[in-house]
Amino acid sequence: MSTPTTRRVSAEQQAREADLVETVVASFDHAPDERYREVMQSLVRHLHAFIRDVRLTEAEWQRAVEFLTAVGRITDDRRQEFVLLSDVLGASMQTVAVNNEASANATEATVFGPFFVRDAPLIEQGGDIAGDGAGEPCWVEGTVTDTTGRPVAGARLEVWEADEDGFYDVQYGDDRVAGRAHLYSGPDGSYRFWGLTPTPYPIPDDGPVGSLLAAAGRSPYRASHLHFMVTAPGCRTLVTHIFVRGDELLDRDSVFGVKESLILDFARHEASERTPDDRDLGGRTWSSTRFDIVLAPAAV
Ligand code: BEZ
Ligand code: FE
Repeated sequence: MSTPTTRRVSAEQQAREADLVETVVASFDHAPDERYREVMQSLVRHLHAFIRDVRLTEAEWQRAVEFLTAVGRITDDRRQEFVLLSDVLGASMQTVAVNNEASANATEATVFGPFFVRDAPLIEQGGDIAGDGAGEPCWVEGTVTDTTGRPVAGARLEVWEADEDGFYDVQYGDDRVAGRAHLYSGPDGSYRFWGLTPTPYPIPDDGPVGSLLAAAGRSPYRASHLHFMVTAPGCRTLVTHIFVRGDELLDRDSVFGVKESLILDFARHEASERTPDDRDLGGRTWSSTRFDIVLAPAAV
């Protein structure tokens, strides 16, 4: 796979290859489901264009089959290597982009990731999502509004993050619940909670996707972030993260999830500084940030 293709292809050869594309495309002409037909015919055209573009060798085709087989073998209930592959190829983010069209000043969406858990604990406004998760306390506050600026009361905010060792609770395999919770925005759309100051962590890189990254000289690390999923009646569900300004990984996030609009200032605070809720942090430093969330209207 090391030499770029320079070979010219004769007109007769090109015609043979083009004929095959049309034959395969036509094999889907009578698919009863119109959307299936559209997707598969486009997939065939793009796949054949790729094979012809790089003049794929049979050995490379074989290697690709072996790679995808390895991706399948390592995938189980707890690990989804196909999603990880989609993530590192930017396909997940492109799907997010296509499905979350820009809508006035609505907050941008980003990749969901594999570590969301349904039914995370409910916390009150100002509660703590950390559980026993290790890390520096971080005060997060903001408002939820619609694109006209009206407060969205009772929006459900799901928040989840890795601990300072770079692991989500579910990665410990011992049923602990830490670094995740849900809460509801107040009547004025405001919300606040204690989390952990986000730190960088690697995506799972001990499988075929890790080998792919290594072959490209790419890092498996994700820029430091905190996940949000925000739902409210009449609004488009927002799946997003907030990122930490100044993090050196912002321009090489392994899954292309960073958007400029999602990079926030995280203020640093000395242990001696009073917290917004007068909490006793046991002599620890802490950070704080503000994330004002704007929800797009639900599609009609
Ligand atoms: C995450 O942010 O949790 C994540 C996203 C994509 C792949 C792996 C992890
Ligand atoms: Fe994450």
